[in-house]
Amino acid sequence: MNICFVIGKWEEMDPQYETTLTLIHESCKRGHRVAVFSPGNLTIRDNITYAFCKIIEKNQKVSDSIPSFYKNVKFKKQRLPVKGFDAIFLRKNPPLDNNMLNFLDSVKEDTIIINDIDGLRKASNKIYTTSFEDEHNYIPETHVSKDIDYLESVITEAKADKMILKPLDGYGGKGVIVLETKAKMNIRSLLEFYIGDDNKNYVILQEYLEGATEGDVRVLMLNGEPIGAMKRVPKDGDARSNVHAGGTVEKYSLTKVDREVCRVVGQKLVLDGIYFAGLDIIDGKLLEVNVLSPGGIPRINKLNKVKLQRNVIDFIELMHKKRDDAINRKLSFRKAIDDA
Ligand SMILES: Nc1ncnc2c1ncn2[C@@H]1O[C@H](COP(=O)(O)OP(=O)(O)O)[C@@H](O)[C@H]1O
Ligand SMILES: [Mg+2]
Repeated sequence: MNICFVIGKWEEMDPQYETTLTLIHESCKRGHRVAVFSPGNLTIRDNITYAFCKIIEKNQKVSDSIPSFYKNVKFKKQRLPVKGFDAIFLRKNPPLDNNMLNFLDSVKEDTIIINDIDGLRKASNKIYTTSFEDEHNYIPETHVSKDIDYLESVITEAKADKMILKPLDGYGGKGVIVLETKAKMNIRSLLEFYIGDDNKNYVILQEYLEGATEGDVRVLMLNGEPIGAMKRVPKDGDARSNVHAGGTVEKYSLTKVDREVCRVVGQKLVLDGIYFAGLDIIDGKLLEVNVLSPGGIPRINKLNKVKLQRNVIDFIELMHKKRDDAINRKLSFRKAIDDA
């Protein structure tokens, strides 16, 4: 297959803990042709979408060690038509680049994109979880607004003594804070600060999940099923479990409730074309669905002695084969009619 990865900067990848790198390495190991480019490399020439790519040169020995593969790999730079790729992995960290999606609209019918462009438009935001039918109460009580008076009233009417305040478009734990609902003197000033001048930003006020002190659970979902999980434990005195905010990871087995959350959420993810995602779960409640470049494979691999990148590339290969078989069947049926 020809597989490309839309990434940030190759030079800035962490050779040890970058999920994207495990996927690139696995693809190369299997003999697929692999290229990488950044969203800013997309270019239209005469109505055709191209990208200035770094394509991995043919016939290189692919080291078994991912860090040494990363260090030694040789690229060739070339402008290539994006439709020529059988699969595209969108692995650039949030925020979502809408221009990139607009460019890729022109190739989405002919190429497998992980995740689906229209699915990303739907799901790449923290309001997505509120679109789940929540008959089992798997979603924490969540409020989203930029109306300071309203948000203040939600806080003062809250029964709990703590709530979570976070920016709607944050990631990596940025700006997530625990609000003491009784600390009234701070509330307006904090809300004003988060919402910003000209009423710029939405904020999320959310039920505080007590289990957060012991950490949250990151589950990797592939085609609607959990393929691996780990626990992320916050640094002492911090509310956030993200590894980018100093959290550490531990081995974890999904509980019955976690599995049930995955089952319900997984069905919707597949319908929305979100084939590869990372769920954040605390106390059996779904905090967030990470759909843009979910991470965790290297850490889960290490904890569980697995290679989850194999599952992901197996899945892509299978999807590609199904598509190819369908095209070939169509061509042979067409020929039968042409020859009649
Ligand atoms: N409602 C909540 N209750 C308890 N802890 C929370 C809550 N929301 C967020 N956190 C903590 O902050 C971290 C980051 O929040 P999250 O909503 O996943 O945003 P981000 O996109 O920044 O990862 C979570 O992993 C968790 O540790
Ligand atoms: Mg998160």
